[in-house]
Amino acid sequence: MVLSSMLETDIPAIFEIEERAYEHGWTEGILRDCLKTSYRCRTVRIDKQIIGYGIISIAAGESHLLNLTIAPEFQRRGLGRRVLHFLVDVAEKEGAEMMFLEARDSNRGAIALYLDEGFNQIGIRNGYYPTDDGHEDAIIMARTLFPANNLEN
Ligand SMILES: CC(C)(COP(=O)(O)OP(=O)(O)OC[C@H]1O[C@@H](n2cnc3c(N)ncnc32)[C@H](O)[C@@H]1OP(=O)(O)O)[C@@H](O)C(=O)NCCC(=O)NCCS
Repeated sequence: MVLSSMLETDIPAIFEIEERAYEHGWTEGILRDCLKTSYRCRTVRIDKQIIGYGIISIAAGESHLLNLTIAPEFQRRGLGRRVLHFLVDVAEKEGAEMMFLEARDSNRGAIALYLDEGFNQIGIRNGYYPTDDGHEDAIIMARTLFPANNLEN
């Protein structure tokens, strides 16, 4: 597995995965917009094939996990966990002291991964996500990071 900075040319393959991985995923435009910000956007490849991606923001000592996706046919092989480790590492190296994320209440697989990786539920956003027949809650989670700067002091 290789992670590299996401390029504009990666977006069609990433959007193709996004459409298959989520019922209500991001648009291609949102993915392209992420590249125009200061977000850290990473593409995950195996044998040069794009199989996933991760996007975090980092500002004022806080990081937010905005997107973590592994293509359905590559899920449950430990790759999502490894990409999460990599993104935590990026955030810590840039001095973030906390990482926050939101997950659909029904996304039990992702929530199990985050709990296992030290995230705790810190809140709920009622009716935050659209569903086919209404809305569902977002579970807000957070974990403490150990920024590189602190370790050096
Ligand atoms: C969530 C996601 C990134 C996890 O990636 P993954 O490569 O499938 O997960 P891993 O193989 O690294 O699993 C790590 C742990 O997460 C938990 N987990 C992951 N998927 C799970 C599932 N479907 N059901 C239950 N637990 C699950 C398990 O604890 C697993 O450990 P185990 O395999 O030893 O039991 C991936 O399933 C995905 O892309 N899903 C669609 C997009 C999405 O929901 N992203 C998260 C948005 S918040």
